[in-house]
Formats: sequence, C-alpha cells, structure tokens
Amino acid sequence: MAKAKRMYGCTECGATFPKWAGQCGECGAWNTLVEALLEGAAPLSGRGGWAGQQANVRTLAEVSVEELPRFSTASKELDRVLGGGLVDGSVVLIGGDPGIGKSTILLQTLCNVAERFPALYVTGEESQQQVAMRARRLDLPQDKLKVMTETCIEAIVATARLEKPKVMVIDSIQTIFTEQLQSAPGGVAQVRESAALLVRFAKQSGTAVFLVGHVTKEGALAGPRVLEHMVDTVLYFEGESDGRLRLLRAVKNRFGAINELGVFGMTDKGLKEVSNPSAIFLTRAQEEVPGSVVMATWEGTRPMLVEVQALVDTSHMGNPRRVTLGLDQNRLAMLLAVLHRHGGIPTYDQDVFLNVVGGVKVLETASDLALLAAVISSLRNRPLPHDLLVFGEIGLSGEIRPVPSGQERLKEAAKHGFKRAIVPRGNAPKEAPEGLSVIPVTRLEQALDALFE
Ligand code: TYD
Ligand code: MG
Repeated sequence: MAKAKRMYGCTECGATFPKWAGQCGECGAWNTLVEALLEGAAPLSGRGGWAGQQANVRTLAEVSVEELPRFSTASKELDRVLGGGLVDGSVVLIGGDPGIGKSTILLQTLCNVAERFPALYVTGEESQQQVAMRARRLDLPQDKLKVMTETCIEAIVATARLEKPKVMVIDSIQTIFTEQLQSAPGGVAQVRESAALLVRFAKQSGTAVFLVGHVTKEGALAGPRVLEHMVDTVLYFEGESDGRLRLLRAVKNRFGAINELGVFGMTDKGLKEVSNPSAIFLTRAQEEVPGSVVMATWEGTRPMLVEVQALVDTSHMGNPRRVTLGLDQNRLAMLLAVLHRHGGIPTYDQDVFLNVVGGVKVLETASDLALLAAVISSLRNRPLPHDLLVFGEIGLSGEIRPVPSGQERLKEAAKHGFKRAIVPRGNAPKEAPEGLSVIPVTRLEQALDALFE
C-alpha cells in the first residue's frame, strides 16, 4: 500500500500544516496540532468516493419511519439510560474514571445479551483470562460470549465482519490504533480515526458498538470533541469510586432523552441495579442535624429525593471559601448574594461548604431553595425537620420560580413519608398528595419565614 502523506491538523479550527508547530498559525490555539492524513491521499477509512449515482432526496413525509429496531440489554437501568434499549447499528460511548465500573457493566451486559444474540467483547486492556475470571466470579453465563484481545482496528473490524455480532464492545478506545498513523495509541488522531472506522462499521453492518473511553485528569474524555460528536450516544459514569453508588448519565442521545439517570450499586457480585434510588440517598441519621435538607430532583423521566448538606463556619481568610460537591459553585455565590440582599442574611465572613449526599450531581436550578435552606440551617445551628421537603428556583430579585414536573416531585415525597413541602406557588397542586401539606411561597422572605417560623 502506498504510504499516505502526513500532515498536521488543528483540532480547534481544522487548518492543516505540513509541519508540526506548538501553535496553530490559523487560530492561534496552543498544542492543538495533531497528526492527520492528507485529504485525497490513500482514503483512510476506505471512503468510497462519488460513483455518479443520483443522491437520495425525498421530502420528510415520504420517508417511512418505523419504530427504531431496539433490543433490551437485559438491564433495566441501562435500557432506561439508552432511551428504552439498544438501537441496531448505534455507537455508544461510555466514559468515566478508571475503576468506576465501565468494564464490569459491559461484561455483565454482554454475557446476558450473548444468550440471545451473537456478541463480541474486544479488550485491549485485559487478557482473555482476566475477562474470563471476572465473568466466573460474577456467575455470568459464559458459554456464548466471544472474547478477543486485539488493539489493531483493521484486525478488529475484519474479525467483526466474519463474526457478525449484534453487539460489540471495544474496551477501551484509547488502546486501539490504526495502521495508517504512526502516532501512539491514545492520541487524538489515533482515537479519532479508529472511532471513525468503527462508526462506519456499525452503520454498515447494523452491529451496535459500545466504546469505553477513559477520562482525563481534567474530567474530559481524551479526545473529547472528536469522539462525542461522532457517536450516537454518550454515557458518563459518575459517583465516588470508593463509594458504592454508581450513576450512569446520558449526556447525548440521538435515540432518547438526555439527562436520564441509571442508578447502580457496586457489590462483590458486580453492579446491581437500584430501582428505588430515593430510598438509598435518604438513609439519614436518626436525630435531626443542622445543615441538612431534602430536595426532589428531576432526572430525565423520574423524580429522585436527595439530601443537601451545608456547613457554614466563620472564615479566617479575606476571601471566604465557597466549596460545592455535586452543585454549581457559581450558582452558590449568586444565591448567597440574593440571600444577603433579599433575605438580609450576610455570609461574607463565613466559609460555606455544600455537598449532595451519595455523589449525585444536581445540575438543575430546582435545588436553589434547598441549598439556601441548608446554608441558613447550618448558619443558625437550627435543624430542619426530617419530614420536610424543599425545592424551587430563586431569581435574582428574590422571587421563587416554579420548576418543571412539580407534581411528580411532590408525589415522590409523599410516597416516602414526607409530611411538609415548601415549594414555589406555581408548583402547588390544587390537591396535595395524601399526607403531605404543601406550603406555597413566592418570595425568598416568605420561604425563610416558612422554614424557620
Ligand atoms: P472496572 O469495571 O474494571 O472499572 P473500569 O473498567 O471502569 O476501569 O472495575 C471496577 C472496580 O469495581 C474495580 O476497582 C473493582 C471493583 N469491583 C467490585 O467491587 N466488585 C466486582 O464484582 C467487580 C467486578 C469489580
Ligand atoms: Mg476497564
């Protein structure tokens, strides 16, 4: 095969250069030039080129839309995150910290899927023995799943064409390389070209492909831009790797809703599904303690009750600290300003630490009111009752705004035995769920009165 001519492309602006340089001459970005292949030279992913056929143009109404061919992964939580099952020919990227459970969940899934369909597990990180040992330890069915250790993408695709699996796992994309590039596996160019080949293979053959992607120290998938827009679905594993809970979140999904959350627990027998997450996140101390409050978040299609904790302490620095785990730090700074202006409660001489119990990330603004309730409870050393639920968005002028799906959040709270709920007036139902008394509020001052009457 004729050797393809090499050049360097900027990952930011796409400009190409014959020589590598530290800075892109086009857009000025630093360290963005990576090895790439010259357009026109030896088509890398076997691009066929134009053969003169008429392009396929139709109106939308003429396009027949059948239900997407989906099949279950035999895991209810994974199916939920995928939008109701795995779609034929789709490419799913699973990212997460090392040791969070990516290989475990995919091995469990594939062993079960292999009972019904042909499946292939390609590993570039572990030996066949290691994979087999893990399957044995987890008591997974082992007689159908095929395992291959290979890191050359051309060999992988060639084998997959023969094996014709319905589902294939590549663990991990960072260990895979293409013969066409000289750079080391794991680099942006290698990851991109290998993934491009796999995406083409998936679309042509109808094989659903899972890609495992490692996360860099900064918290992004290595080669993030290039991978995330190439694949159909991006799932992230969250949670503390020393804790038991693992959360699988969809951040992009061409075949379903995003921000859908799957909850798992890591046990000595692998990952187990958690079907009632609220119950887990709410295991609290018996006595009421200051700085703790429960809110209802909305994750994709279901509500979840989580506990927000705050610790407010006298600051000994010029710049008091605002530290959050699982919540937005800028949002906290903004809310503390609102609290001062509209609630008359200053915190400029206080360090504020916030945490969501269980390693959950709460990204929605419905947490605003709960967050301030926890802060004031800690500041005043006054515990809030155990059976109190709080949620609502706070605006800059101190108004409490309604949030989506208020009814479902309240129902979830009633189901778990909550007796009182302080919520935005717009979310107050005509008829409260049984056993729950709903206190609607429109202003921050009003909410504070209701909280600490
Ligand atoms: P792994 O799935 O290999 O993580 P990743 O592929 O994301 O790097 O490993 C997950 C971690 O979970 C590993 O450190 C060991 C632990 N673990 C258990 O606690 N129980 C089990 O049954 C298994 C298989 C792993
Ligand atoms: Mg692994």
